[in-house]
Amino acid sequence: MEIRVVQGNIAQVESDCIVVNLFEGVTAPDGGTGALDQALDGAISRLIASGDFTGKAESTALLYSDGKIPSPRVLVVGLGKAEKFDLHGVRRASAVAAKILAKTGGVKKYATIVHGAGIAGLDAAQASQALAEGTLLALYQTTQYKREKKEAGLDSCTVVEFSQEKLADVSAGVRRGEVIAQAVYTARHLVSEPPNLLFPVELAVRARRMAETVGLKSTVLGEAAMRELGMNILLAVSKGSANEAQFLILEHAPAGHEEEQPLVFAGKGITFDTGGISLKPEAEMWRMKNDMGGAAAVIGALEAIGRLNLPRRVIGVAACVENMPDGSAFRPADIVTGMTGKTAEIISTDAEGRLVLADALAYVARFNPSAVVDLATLTGAVGIALGKVRGGLFANNEDLSQALMAAGERSGEKLWPFPMDEEYIEGIKSDMAEVKNSGGKGSGLSSSAKFLEHFTEGYPWAHLDIAAMVWSDTEKGAENPKGATGYGVRLLVELAGAI
Ligand code: BES
Ligand code: MN
Ligand code: ZN
Repeated sequence: MEIRVVQGNIAQVESDCIVVNLFEGVTAPDGGTGALDQALDGAISRLIASGDFTGKAESTALLYSDGKIPSPRVLVVGLGKAEKFDLHGVRRASAVAAKILAKTGGVKKYATIVHGAGIAGLDAAQASQALAEGTLLALYQTTQYKREKKEAGLDSCTVVEFSQEKLADVSAGVRRGEVIAQAVYTARHLVSEPPNLLFPVELAVRARRMAETVGLKSTVLGEAAMRELGMNILLAVSKGSANEAQFLILEHAPAGHEEEQPLVFAGKGITFDTGGISLKPEAEMWRMKNDMGGAAAVIGALEAIGRLNLPRRVIGVAACVENMPDGSAFRPADIVTGMTGKTAEIISTDAEGRLVLADALAYVARFNPSAVVDLATLTGAVGIALGKVRGGLFANNEDLSQALMAAGERSGEKLWPFPMDEEYIEGIKSDMAEVKNSGGKGSGLSSSAKFLEHFTEGYPWAHLDIAAMVWSDTEKGAENPKGATGYGVRLLVELAGAI
C-alpha cells in the first residue's frame, strides 16, 4: 500500500475515511480533533459524553459525517494516557487504524494525521516513521499459497500534516518507516516460507536478488568453497541434508566508507531444524522452518540499511544450512575442527545453531570488524526465561551491550542481558575436544553463548538469542500479526544508525 504525505487540514481532506485521535480522559477535544469536532457539530464530544469511547489505547470509534465534511467517515483512535504515550503508541495506534479500515468494506483509501506530532510533542520525523511502520506492519499477509485471495484491502493512506514547517520531517519519516517496514516484510516472508521451497540455495538466491535491487555487494560460498576454507564445523551440520549449504555475504559500503571497519551482523540460517540424529519430537517440529529467523533479520536489515544509504560500512553474513538426519549425517560424539583450528565435540546434533555460527564467527574476523552481532534462534530456554517480550542479549563488550539495549528500547524490539561469567565455560568443557556443543540442562543458558564466544576472534561481539521472538502463534499487538514477526530488522537498522 502506498503512503503519501500532503500539507493541509484533515477536516477538509476528501477520502473514504479520515483518522484522528484522542487521549484517554479528554472530554473536550482540542487541536485537529477539536477543529473536526466543531465541523461535525460536536459529534466527537457527544461520543465521549455517551461513555461509549474513552480514548483507551487500541480502542476505536467509527463515525459518519453526514456531509458535514468532505469525507464520509471519521475513525477516532484512542491513544491511551497522555503521560504514557510514546513512539510505540504511535506505531500501535496507526496499526490499529489500518487493521480496522482494511476490514471496513467501503474504505479503499484513507487519510490520517500523525499521531503524537501535535499535542504529545513527539519528534515529527520519528512519529511519522512509527506511523508508516505501524500501518504497513499491521497489513502484512501470507496468502501466496491460497488460491482464493482475500479482499485486495487498502489502496492508499495519505498522511495530512497541517504545519508547513514540519512537512519535510514528516515526509522523511514516512519514507524511512516505509523502507524499514518493507525490510521487515522481507524477513517475515523468508521466515514464513515452507522449508521444501526455501532451502539454503533458495535463501541465498533471494538474498542476492534483493542485494542486486538495492545495490549491495553480495557473495555466496557453496560447500566446496567452505571446505577449502576449513569451515568443517558448519559443514558437519549439513552432512545429513540433500540440500547444499550456503554461506551468504552482503555488504553495504557507501562512498567514502569503503575502508572503514565494518559493523558485522551474522545470522543463523537453518532452513529446517529436525534436530538431525538427535531428532526432535514430532509435536512442534514444523515450527523449525523459522530456524533461519536470524538470517532473515540480517538480510532484511541489510536491505533497509542499503536503501536508506546509512553512512557506515555494514556487512551481513548468514550461515544457511539444513539440519537433517540420514546415513551420512553427523552424529553425537563426532569431533569436528573448524576454520580457526578450534575443535568441538558434538553432544547433540540438535545444538546445531552454535556449530554453524562457530565458523561464521571465525570467518568474519577477516573483515577486522568494529563489532559483530550474531542473531540466532539458538535455544528453547531463552523463551522460558524471557517469554516473547524480549530477546536474550549476551556480550563480551559493555559499550556494544549498552548500544544494543538502547537500540532495542528505541525500535520496540527489546532485549535483556544475560551473564557471561567464565564459570559458564565449565559446563561445556569436553574430555575429548576443546569444547562440547551441549552441557545439558544444568549448564545454564549462558553456556550456549560461551560456546560461541570461544569461536570469536578478538573483536567486540554480542549474541542475540531470538528463538522465542521470530514467530508468534497469536497476534502480539496490531502491528504484529500472528506468524513470522521479522524481529531483529528494526533493531539492527536502529543500531547501525547509532554506532
Ligand atoms: N532451533 C532450536 C532452538 C529452538 C527451540 C528455537 C524452540 C525455537 C523454539 C535449536 O537448534 C535447538 O534445538 N536447541 C536445543 C539445544 C540443546 C540441544 C542444547 C534446545 O534449546 O533445546
Ligand atoms: Mn536444533
Ligand atoms: Zn536450531
